[in-house]
Amino acid sequence: MMRAMATISILVAGCADSRTVDGTRRCATAAECESIHPPGIADPASPDFHGILLPSLGWNLASCATCHGADFAGGKSGRSCLTCHDGGPTTCTTCHALPPPTGAHAAHGYACSECHVMPATWDAPGHLFDGHGGVIARALVVFGPIARTGGATPTWDGERCSNNYCHGAATPAWNGGANEAPCGSCHAVPPSDAHHVNPRCGECHGRVVDDQAHIVNAALHSDGKVNVGDDSGTCLACHPHPGGAHAAHATAAHRIAAPIGCVTCHRVPTSVHDPGHIDHPRAVVFPDGPAIWNATTGQCSNSGCHGAATPSWTGSPVVCGSCHGIPPADASHAPTLRLQDCAACHARSIDASGQLLPPPAGKHLDGVVDAP
Ligand code: HEC
Ligand code: HEC
Ligand code: HEC
Ligand code: HEC
Ligand code: HEC
Ligand code: HEC
Ligand code: HEC
Ligand code: HEC
Ligand code: HEC
Ligand code: HEC
Repeated sequence: MMRAMATISILVAGCADSRTVDGTRRCATAAECESIHPPGIADPASPDFHGILLPSLGWNLASCATCHGADFAGGKSGRSCLTCHDGGPTTCTTCHALPPPTGAHAAHGYACSECHVMPATWDAPGHLFDGHGGVIARALVVFGPIARTGGATPTWDGERCSNNYCHGAATPAWNGGANEAPCGSCHAVPPSDAHHVNPRCGECHGRVVDDQAHIVNAALHSDGKVNVGDDSGTCLACHPHPGGAHAAHATAAHRIAAPIGCVTCHRVPTSVHDPGHIDHPRAVVFPDGPAIWNATTGQCSNSGCHGAATPSWTGSPVVCGSCHGIPPADASHAPTLRLQDCAACHARSIDASGQLLPPPAGKHLDGVVDAP
């Protein structure tokens, strides 16, 4: 971008022809000789320091190039800018860091393009210069897609943001510090709706927060998408591997019974928001009885399956003898009966070696006593 050259007040006019420009070399021309800077040009403590003067000169780097070379390597001045500015003075980080340490930059992990138009080069229109050669005095904030999620119409008034998707109804001040966006300022924690009764966020938003509402992956938070479970959109999204004895029941690992479906112990929703599903602080077990689940002790009772036993959901696996005696102590069973003897009367459930027959052929624990 070329513009009418601003008055270069950093140059001292009127020196004599004999004066050297750099202490070793003589001035080639009178014009060059007239172009010597005030002494403070390279002194950051001086008001004449070029870093301070350049903004007031409308960022006229083209004027510098006339003497320091188009590549800023020295040109006819013999003084290179590259000795101090590695990549040359027009690289992005000469004038500001990416991002600058100002305002709430550090707190926002977003791409610059979510709040600014990123210039491809330092002199791209809209960055330092407008399309008419004028100098833009202040950074332009132009919101990207995330702030506009859901049709929001975000605004920046030079001090605060408002109407944006990210902050909801809040209007945080850019220079206000960390207290501008505490947990709860953009949305309640948890939001006050019917599917937010369970306080352990991690059970449904595990990719974003843990159960104590600490953000575990900021990149997925306030990114324009509500993350639910593993985001697969399926029932398994939030409970791919429920804990406790779920696996033992679901896979019938011990071959004591056929696999036991969710419906044996839970009301199974057909959609996430079905009544009775996530509208409780904890999972509902045995909603229709007669079995009883004690969430405090973590034990089942009156289950039919476990007889008089009250197994712990997270305790040791059950074994022969934990639900009924081997043999049961009743009139039908002599106390001396061994496992190998059971098949004589319970052949549909157990074989002559004392092994339960695997379901579905085997009839053990199917709710019906397989008796002679
Ligand atoms: C008319 C020629 C001319 C122009 C235009 C010019 N300079 Fe210089 N500059 C020189 C010369 C010659 C020197 C050598 C030192 C001295 O005698 O001042 C120099 C030295 C410098 C130095 C000190 C370098 C060092 O190694 O210590 C800086 C910094 C500098 N110029 C910045 C600028 C900037 C920024 C611009 C544009 C705004 C600019 N100059 C425009 C001729 C020029
Ligand atoms: C002696 C070392 C030195 C030389 C040579 C030098 N600079 Fe600098 N320049 C600096 C320092 C130091 C800063 C301030 C950096 C900072 O604040 O982080 C600076 C800052 C700048 C800035 C940023 C100004 C701002 O307000 O953000 C520009 C642009 C710049 N120099 C251009 C030039 C040009 C063009 C030349 C060559 C003509 C040049 N510099 C030569 C040391 C130098
Ligand atoms: C969440 C929005 C947001 C993001 C993301 C963001 N900025 Fe900014 N930026 C601002 C605001 C607001 C200002 C202040 C503008 C003003 O003062 O009018 C600003 C100002 C600036 C300024 C002007 C100097 C200053 O410190 O005020 C620069 C340079 C800048 N941003 C660069 C960047 C770069 C580079 C990135 C990406 C690494 C970035 N910004 C990311 C919002 C953002
Ligand atoms: C010569 C100094 C200079 C260079 C080089 C420079 N910038 Fe900037 N940049 C500024 C200043 C100063 C602002 C603040 C806005 C203003 O004053 O016009 C700014 C603002 C920005 C902003 C905030 C949005 C805007 O345009 O106002 C972004 C983003 C940015 N710069 C990115 C870059 C990138 C990327 C590069 C390299 C391609 C770059 N800058 C090179 C001086 C510079
Ligand atoms: C029992 C499951 C569950 C738990 C636990 C849960 N959420 Fe949600 N959350 C959801 C569902 C489902 C949505 C809606 C997703 C959709 O709109 O499709 C949602 C959406 C949200 C939204 C987006 C705005 C809204 O109201 O829809 C926020 C914010 C949110 N949850 C925060 C939290 C926080 C904070 C916690 C912990 C204090 C939490 N959630 C715990 C299931 C849960
Ligand atoms: C700057 C505003 C803001 C703040 C502060 C904020 N949130 Fe959010 N949060 C959102 C937005 C916007 C969403 C909507 C979903 C999205 O875009 O990721 C969201 C969604 C969520 C979700 C749903 C999962 C997801 O990300 O999709 C949880 C859980 C959540 N926030 C927890 C928290 C917790 C815990 C805190 C405090 C540590 C917090 N939020 C602070 C803006 C915020
Ligand atoms: C044998 C009974 C039983 C079966 C079968 C069963 N569950 Fe559970 N489920 C429980 C018990 C007991 C809890 C523990 C509740 C608590 O901690 O308060 C539970 C808890 C849960 C929880 C809450 C999170 C957790 O791990 O504690 C989810 C989700 C769940 N079950 C889903 C399922 C799904 C899906 C199925 C089918 C694949 C299933 N359950 C099969 C008994 C069962
Ligand atoms: C948003 C995450 C999420 C999704 C998606 C989800 N569940 Fe759940 N589900 C939970 C949580 C969390 C619990 C246990 C705690 C509670 O009620 O908040 C639960 C509990 C259950 C239970 C135990 C009984 C109960 O309702 O308390 C079953 C069964 C169950 N879910 C099945 C399903 C099925 C089937 C689907 C698909 C239609 C599904 N879930 C989708 C989070 C989810
Ligand atoms: C001589 C025949 C006979 C033999 C051998 C036999 N049972 Fe039984 N069993 C019965 C009869 C009859 C019933 C049904 C009447 C009842 O409930 O007492 C029964 C019922 C059962 C029941 C269900 C009722 C309860 O009391 O819990 C279990 C469990 C059982 N038997 C286990 C065994 C085991 C284990 C063995 C081998 C160690 C075995 N039985 C050997 C005749 C036999
Ligand atoms: C989880 C509790 C439980 C465990 C563990 C258990 N049983 Fe049973 N068993 C039952 C119940 C309940 C019955 C009653 C009839 C039914 O539902 O099949 C039964 C019945 C039986 C019967 C009578 C035939 C029948 O199927 O009705 C035999 C024999 C038997 N069990 C043997 C065993 C052996 C051998 C083991 C160890 C490998 C074992 N049981 C482990 C609960 C259990």
